Amino acid sequence: MRSLNNKTVYLDHFASTPCDERVVHAMLPYFVEEFANPSSFTHAPGISALRTVESSREKIANALGMKSREIVFTGGATESNNLAILGLATKAIRRHIVTSNIEHKSVLGPIDHLERNGFRVTRLTVNSKGELDLDRYIEAIDDDTLLVSIQSANNEIGTIQDINTLVKIAHERGALFHCDAVQAFGKVRFDFSNVDLLSLSGHKIYGPKGIGLLALKGGPDKMAISSICFGGGQESGLRPGTLNVPLIVGFAYAAQLAIEQLDSIGTIEAIRDRFERMLVAMVPDVKLNGNPLNRLPGGSSITFDGIEAESLLANLPEFALSTGSACSGGAVTPSHVLEAIGLGRNESFGTLRVCFGRGNSMEDAERLAEKLVDSVHRIRKLNEILN
Ligand SMILES: Cc1ncc(COP(=O)(O)O)c(C=O)c1O
Repeated sequence: MRSLNNKTVYLDHFASTPCDERVVHAMLPYFVEEFANPSSFTHAPGISALRTVESSREKIANALGMKSREIVFTGGATESNNLAILGLATKAIRRHIVTSNIEHKSVLGPIDHLERNGFRVTRLTVNSKGELDLDRYIEAIDDDTLLVSIQSANNEIGTIQDINTLVKIAHERGALFHCDAVQAFGKVRFDFSNVDLLSLSGHKIYGPKGIGLLALKGGPDKMAISSICFGGGQESGLRPGTLNVPLIVGFAYAAQLAIEQLDSIGTIEAIRDRFERMLVAMVPDVKLNGNPLNRLPGGSSITFDGIEAESLLANLPEFALSTGSACSGGAVTPSHVLEAIGLGRNESFGTLRVCFGRGNSMEDAERLAEKLVDSVHRIRKLNEILN
């Protein structure tokens, strides 16, 4: 599972994870043999497909500590985030939304859209570790606040937010709370039971791509939320379209495995820590981003002074790494998250993201650290000669 091919060591697990082979096997029968449409109630294969969807829904609800009727399957977390934010806004009387400026673009995008259409938006800033200021958070929520949308953990710097405290404050003012839990689920133990709306994605938890969910407390019928897509009654009418049975089966199994394997996450954390210790000991002028006391295991965001991360990547072709959020991978603008924690343009371009996952070993961490040390020294030496 570790290598993309025999040569590449995959170290970009916050962008995507390999689909667990057990998950692939579980999905296979639903492509060819049990392919019927779960909305086809007129025949046995259709009814059987519906049963499969419902047992998967139960499995994933159990993994989340929720009820089956609270789960709506979507085509991924981008869609879940859009559905939560735009779907609530359609029926709302309140016209104010609170979020942070380090949210994923799939949260910030629909909120920007609402602002262009008359909503008031407060985008809270964070400190250099990516933490919210609680006093400013309390001040931001008022009687007109419809929704607060804050991620459980950041996909670039790994900082974890204190979601339970934030939910409590939002509820005291009558606002709903949406949490993009894409990165935290399966990496840290979380109690999401008080969150009103929760987004998850299959491909971040060793499941398939193109599947996600929006969990709604009490179920879609209990919440004033509309669909943002029309023309079918599936998923309580909230997400119309033929249900993708194999992906739903795979997603549910991956979620179950993620919970079962939470205890072994310490191994991935130890690999990341070994990598960081070696790097920091051997390379001067490097900075680790995120909250050192409360961040996701596995991820490391490192800023190298005076070096472009792209140059480092060119020196490390045997490693699959990222220079920022994978979702904005094609863009040449600095990451909005790194800007938000106070990094200048050059520092942002000098930042590398390394994300270890289930298939990695201590040896991967040591090899990468050694190669990075060597590359940084060579590039800095060359820069000295040229300048
Ligand atoms: C925090 C966060 N939210 C949402 C998404 C979007 O998820 P999906 O790829 O399922 O649309 C990502 C993916 O990078 C993410 O990291």
